[in-house]
Amino acid sequence: MTAILGISAFYHDSAAALVVDGEIVAAAQEERFTRIKHDLAFPKQAVDYCLRDAGLTAEQIDHVVFYEKPFLKFDRLLETHLAVAPAGFGSFLKAMPLWLHEKLQLTRVMNQGLGGLYRKRYVFTEHHEAHAASAFFPSPFAEAAIMVLDGVGEWATASLGHGAGSTVTLSHEMHFPHSLGLLYSAFTYHCGFKVNSGEYKLMGLAPYGEPKYADLILRHLLDLKADGSFRLDQSYFNYCGGLTMTSEKFSRLFGGPPRRPESALTARELDLAASVQKVTELITLRMAAHLHQLTGSKNLCLAGGVALNCVANGRLLRESPFKNIWIQAAAGDAGGALGAALFAWYQLLENPRTPRSPDSQQGSLLGPAHAASEIETLLRSQQAVYRHCPDDAELCTQVASLIADGKVVGWVQGRMEFGPRALGNRSILGDARSPAMQSVMNQKIKFRESFRPFAPIVLRDRAADYFELRPDQESPYMLLVAPVRADKRMPPATSSPRGLAQVNEPRSVIPAVTHVDYSARIQTVDETRNPRLHQLLTAFDRLTGCPVLINTSFNVRGEPIVGSPADAYRCFMATNMDVLVLENFILLKAEQPADARVNAQAYLNQYEKD
Ligand SMILES: [Fe+2]
Repeated sequence: MTAILGISAFYHDSAAALVVDGEIVAAAQEERFTRIKHDLAFPKQAVDYCLRDAGLTAEQIDHVVFYEKPFLKFDRLLETHLAVAPAGFGSFLKAMPLWLHEKLQLTRVMNQGLGGLYRKRYVFTEHHEAHAASAFFPSPFAEAAIMVLDGVGEWATASLGHGAGSTVTLSHEMHFPHSLGLLYSAFTYHCGFKVNSGEYKLMGLAPYGEPKYADLILRHLLDLKADGSFRLDQSYFNYCGGLTMTSEKFSRLFGGPPRRPESALTARELDLAASVQKVTELITLRMAAHLHQLTGSKNLCLAGGVALNCVANGRLLRESPFKNIWIQAAAGDAGGALGAALFAWYQLLENPRTPRSPDSQQGSLLGPAHAASEIETLLRSQQAVYRHCPDDAELCTQVASLIADGKVVGWVQGRMEFGPRALGNRSILGDARSPAMQSVMNQKIKFRESFRPFAPIVLRDRAADYFELRPDQESPYMLLVAPVRADKRMPPATSSPRGLAQVNEPRSVIPAVTHVDYSARIQTVDETRNPRLHQLLTAFDRLTGCPVLINTSFNVRGEPIVGSPADAYRCFMATNMDVLVLENFILLKAEQPADARVNAQAYLNQYEKD
């Protein structure tokens, strides 16, 4: 037996993944245990979980693999800061103590994290090797083109290559500071959102605006080549030397300073979001076309933070020359832990690989599950009022009927998801047919901005009835956006409002999951990957004739997605959620003791706004 532990840490979204004889046994992000969003510390609890799950101790691990080469990265930081000194001195001083104490002493920190029990050598992969491995090795393809796009690891910001059998080969690279991820983050920052987490909001905001500034971006900020590679004019940015992302010259070009976080959104932010989104799509499409020429493959694998841009992914699917696309569910840096472990097993140890259908990612349900006995003990200790419904079919029928009645349901089942999205095991579910549901769920349940769109889950075999997807195309990890079919849309109101006022306009028979541009971020649900969720959707379809539900992550604004049943119970009691389902236990909010309610504001205050 060969056990390989992959680790990503010290930037954002620390994670651990365990691969035993090539099988992905367990993987989890540290934030789900520590309850600190994007936790970047050594993933102690995630490692402990992985080992516990496999019944191993750190002593029994054969290889521990870290997802980047720390000295290469140190080299990049040093060189960048020296190049812009003394202007860069502020961020240099800020970055260096962390580096000196944690990153350059990585071996010591990892030894400590593993309780001194691991005494073999550490393996370090390059950052993009780890992303590429996470994209290709779990995919269903024997061979595929690989595209990695992110902010930055060591030096590489974009990598193109090819995977075949047990090998990934990266042949073309773009280097820091020229980075599509950092360009997107710069606009995220300028629009008043948090870098490395607000990118998703910017993508959600884009359809409300007009891409008025796209030409300006293409003319001034970047020099884009036919093959999709580009150089960024650094005079518009500040991430090399300063503590902000954009410079004053950037503000002058786009007509004003960065928006203050939490202040009202104006047409300018909507238009900036639409513009950078359009440019991002243009660049990814060009790169993909070039990659197709290089490889001649019909299959494409994606990873890196930019691969979470599901709108761009949807266009790649529809407009790029590739026929099939597979995207790593944990496309961001957390997935680097999994990629590092798989890279060691296949590429370094040269083990044979047999691709599997639908893939080897197991629905990305790779985290901890909780036993019924543990849940019952928790519920008793909280004096919660609950019903036990041991029959799965009966449970799904009951929950489907509650959702059809307009109830919002917290749904905790099986193993926790690996990656940033809740895929139906730590989710909040609601009726997608309800025109009021988007604002109810945003404001009363998640306490977040009203413009944030919701994603649908749909039975895989029925997806093409509602969305413009090829019948054989699936989207198991909620990473593809596709238009709602014309026959499911509703005619626009005669005096269509513009901007954010559009949010409450129903625009299809599933208005709660139809974005203002008639798009939807789809998760297809199949029986293989998630039988319980498939059963629930089937029950809802039987009851209502609609195989679609809203699926959003089980958390409030700024909170990591719930991990344990205790996390879920607390969040349930702090929000206006109507029903909580923990495995086969059903709790109705109306029946819970009044003194068990958690103050919503106090609950929210624990978490920094994202
Ligand atoms: Fe990355």
